[in-house]
This record gives sequence, structure tokens and C-alpha cells, in this order.
Amino acid sequence: MAKTIFDSLPDMSKARDRVKKPELIFDDVLVSPRLASYGKGRKFIIKTFGCQANVRDEEILSGYLEKAGMVRTDNENEAGMVIINTCAVRENAEDKVYGEIGNYKKRAKEDPSFSLAICGCMMQEEGVAEKLIKSYPYISVIFGTHNIHKILELLDWHLKTNKTIVSILSFAGDIIENLPSDRVDKHQAFVNITYGCDKFCTYCIVPYTRGRERSRPLDVILKECKELVDAGYAQITLLGQNVNSYGKDFKDGTSFATCLEAVAKLGIPRLRFMTSHPWDFSDEMLDVIARYPNIMKCIHLPVQSGSSEVLKLMGRRYSREQYLDLVKRIKTKIPGVALTTDIIVGFPNETAEQFEDTMTLCEEVRYDSAFTFIYSPRKGTPAAKMVDNVDDKTKHERFDRLLKIIEETTNEASAKLVGQIVPVLVSGPSKKNPEILSGYTEGSKLVNFKGPAYLEGEIVDLKIVENHCHYVVGELLEDPLLIKARSLKKALNKEKAVAEFLSLEKQIEEDEELISLRKEIQSAQKKMTASMNGDDSGYIKAKEAYLSLKKRYEEHPLVKNHEALHDEVEAILLEVKEALK
Ligand code: SAH
Ligand code: SF4
Ligand code: F3S
Repeated sequence: MAKTIFDSLPDMSKARDRVKKPELIFDDVLVSPRLASYGKGRKFIIKTFGCQANVRDEEILSGYLEKAGMVRTDNENEAGMVIINTCAVRENAEDKVYGEIGNYKKRAKEDPSFSLAICGCMMQEEGVAEKLIKSYPYISVIFGTHNIHKILELLDWHLKTNKTIVSILSFAGDIIENLPSDRVDKHQAFVNITYGCDKFCTYCIVPYTRGRERSRPLDVILKECKELVDAGYAQITLLGQNVNSYGKDFKDGTSFATCLEAVAKLGIPRLRFMTSHPWDFSDEMLDVIARYPNIMKCIHLPVQSGSSEVLKLMGRRYSREQYLDLVKRIKTKIPGVALTTDIIVGFPNETAEQFEDTMTLCEEVRYDSAFTFIYSPRKGTPAAKMVDNVDDKTKHERFDRLLKIIEETTNEASAKLVGQIVPVLVSGPSKKNPEILSGYTEGSKLVNFKGPAYLEGEIVDLKIVENHCHYVVGELLEDPLLIKARSLKKALNKEKAVAEFLSLEKQIEEDEELISLRKEIQSAQKKMTASMNGDDSGYIKAKEAYLSLKKRYEEHPLVKNHEALHDEVEAILLEVKEALK
């Protein structure tokens, strides 16, 4: 009997399709009794490769696993479930994944209840899933970027059949809301504003692995951001492969500037966004960035190449001159702005002169920092079909030269900070030395300084005293206890919210209408899970009944007010707890 159930496999021609309109789907998390008993107390680890889109997916996957009773761990040896969340953007990102999966062979053999799931962008490539199950038959589930919200159903299917389930969708992509999530970081959060990409740069796999560009409705973005503000988050980063395109698909005049301004007004201390394509960077956006002090003056503006000819072959839709003109506009409107970028070296047939164009562009722009890559052909993209006449040695030499100029301008930007007093968001103990704290300036420069761990999550003023190129060293200007005492006082001022929260809780418990609604929901839920293994129509009906009761409950004014205060009270308690440490 076959060991694998192929529910669906990726098809890159379908992934290119941009005709079907995205649907807005509100998902509801359901846990079957089988999965609940498997998940109870089971420890899990998610290993994420690639960009912030994958990091955010990890948080959502964590949210789902927690709904099934599982608990996140950092200790690999105790994990009873592992998810490997892959990236396909360059070949070396893929190579790491194979090694990683191979590491679990022994574990899967020793523990029959161990589950290994593989997901992410690499799974959206044709042929990868088939290759994986041949080499690693112990994989439990393989899924893609379009169905992360199906993780629990797929895992349940695997438990029921004891077979490898392969379910990878290739289509334009929908927008799924109501996703559970467990955020990795408690001080800074990523919020998706668009999914996918329609730019189809000729070297890039992302439009195929992530589907069409689609914007989340502004009201759901604002609701998510408001919850983060209430929960005491210090920083939000709005995410999209190209945030500049936000709202264009609504065709009602909504733009990224609208979204950025609305989020800034919610009062988050630090607001960032990533990534901006240079092609559709509007003046309106620049005005909003300049106007709001809580929008960080730091723009990631991938250039990819300094040669107009190469940019044309890359399908980037701007020339060297247009890019430099945009940089000038940005620097004029936002003095002191930190600019960062991505650059690809060795695009097929890149000539020595074309590479020099990249060098001179970097010299002119003087980036605060840059991610540099050697071009890696991605199967299925137009550039992968181009015959390349540049040898690897030349590419590496060019790459090294590029690194040098980037290092020079990075160092220059860091040196400028020395002697200045700058606000720094403290992210936690430094990776290399637990005695030292790390944080980031408004321009995203890494700062290390001596200070107590309880400052994590605070924005503190530091005097920059040393430059180490990729990071700087700072010193606290006041007693850290004073800083903490101030935030404790702020938290205690919100005491009224705590009293109101408790009183609402009591009212909800005693309200006749809500008592009977709770009973009805419980029995509807039982009916629904019982019908899960039967025919689809029975299950759909039972689910509808359950959802409508749940909606009635959630919309009751007492429950609504209670919910609104929930995050705020949680934040107050956390702040108090931290301050009392
Ligand atoms: N949407 C973002 C990020 C895309 S992926 C953007 O457009 O900027 C991040 C970076 O990976 C890209 O900016 C590009 O520099 C690099 N990259 C993408 N495809 C690549 C390839 N085939 N080879 C080498 N680098 C690549
Ligand atoms: Fe890839 Fe270009 Fe889209 Fe960025 S804008 S994700 S580089 S296709
Ligand atoms: Fe990689 Fe997918 Fe991001 S290919 S860079 S994880 S969108």
C-alpha cells in the first residue's frame, strides 16, 4: 500500500495565473478529538528559513499547534513535533533544508509518535515534494504557503491514516483572516499588509511561491495593530513583498500612504515597513513618513543593480537615473534618513562596466547597510533560461569588491553616531554576551550596552561611545531603575481598566442570556466534532450552527467590552510583573 497520499501538488504555470480574484475567508480553528489527544502537552519546534513572511507564518503555525494543546519549546530533544519552514529564494537556502530534514531520521525511527512537517516557499516548487518523500519517507505532512491554515486538518489526516500527506496548492492565493498566532517577540511585531507579489522580477521565485499580490482589508490591519498597541508592543513592522502597492487592488483610492498614516495614528512608539519597491514609491508616502515622528526614518530600498541595462533585464521597471532621483527626493524630504538595500551580483552576462555601475551607485548613495547576494538561478523563472557567460571566479571577485564599498559606507554611518544621544529599543541580552544588552536605533543600527535585563522592551536614551562598523556601543544616561519605575507608574495609572475587567467578568458569568448561550455553544460544538468523520454536508451544517451561536455570543455587549479590555489588562500585568522583577 502506498505510504503517501497526494492531495495536491504544485504547478508553476497555475502559480503564475493572476486572473482569479482573491477571496476573503474567515477561518475557524477546529481540533478533532484525535488531534486533541495527540497534541495535549506535546512540545513543538518550528525552524524557519527565509524572510519575515516566513517568520510571520511561523507565528501563525505556532498559534494553530497551541490550539491543539501543544507547547512551544527551544529544546530540540524534547520536541515531539517539528516543522521546517523553508525558503526558495536562493539555492543555498534550499541546501540547508535537506540537511535539516536528514537530522530527524533517527528521531522518527525511535519515536513512532514523532511528527515532522515541511512547509514554506520551497514546497511550492515543482518536484520538490516528490523528491523529499523519496529521500525522507518519515515526513508526516508536506504543505505549502497557501494552506498553512490547514495544518491541523492535515496533521489529523496523517494521524488517521499513518501516511505522509502531501497537500500543496498552486493558485493566485486568498486572504485568510481570524488566524491564531503566537508571536515570537513580545516587544516588536510583524503585521502583514499585503501577501504575494505581481512584479515578476525575472530572477525571482517569490511571485510563484507566494501567489498574487493581495491587500488585507484596512480595518483588519488596524484592528490587529490596535491590539498590539494595547498589549504594550513597542514596534510594529508592516510587511509585504512590496508594501508600496498596498490598496491598489481595492481601486477606491486607498494607498500605502493611507495605511501607514492610519497605523501611525494608533500611537505605536515605533513603526517600520518592509519592503518598498523603488518603482511605485509615491511622494504622498514620503510626506507621511516625514510627518509622523513614530514612523522610523529608515527605508529599505532594494536596488539590485546600478546598471540600467541589467535592471531592464531584471524587469525592475526603473533605471539607474530614476532610482538615484528617488534617493535624492527621499534624502531631501527626510534629512538624516537611513537607506538600506539588496544587491545581486552576477546576473547572467553582467559585464565589467555594468558591475562598475553598481559600484558607483553604492558610492553615490552611501547605504547604511546592504544585503548582497550572488545571483542564483531559480528553475521556472525567465532569468534561469538565460545563458550566462560570466564565470564563478569573476562573480566572487565582484562580490568581494562590492562588500568592501558596503563595509565602507556602513562604517561611515556608524561613525556618525558616535557622540550622539539616541533612543534605542532594547531587544534583550546580546547574542554573544548575556551581560550585555542589545537594541536598535531608529535607523536600525545595532547597539550594545551594559544594563540590567529588565530594560528589555523599553526605549532608552543611550550615548554612543564606540563604533564597530556593524554595531556601535552605547552608555545609559540615567539610572535604569528610574526608567523602569516610570513605566511601572504608567502601568499602574491604568488600574481602572483592571477593576472594570474584573467586574465585567462577573457580569458575564451571571448573565442569564449568556449562560444559556454558553450551554448551546457547548452542545453545538459536540455535534460538530462528532460529525467530523461523517459526510461533509452534516459537518458543514453543524459547523454553521456552531459559528452562528458563537458569533451571537461574541457580539453580546458585555463580552465585547470584556474582550476589548483583555489585551490591555494583560499588558498592564506584564508591565507590572517585569518592573517588579
Ligand atoms: N520583495 C522583496 C524581497 C525579495 S527576496 C524585494 O523585492 O525587495 C529578497 C532579496 O533576495 C531580493 O531583494 C534579491 O536581492 C534577492 N534575490 C531574489 N532572488 C534572487 C536570486 N535568484 N538570486 C540571488 N538573489 C536573489
Ligand atoms: Fe521578487 Fe521582485 Fe517581487 Fe521582490 S518585487 S518579491 S524581487 S518579484
Ligand atoms: Fe524565501 Fe519565500 Fe521569503 S522564498 S525570501 S521565504 S517569500
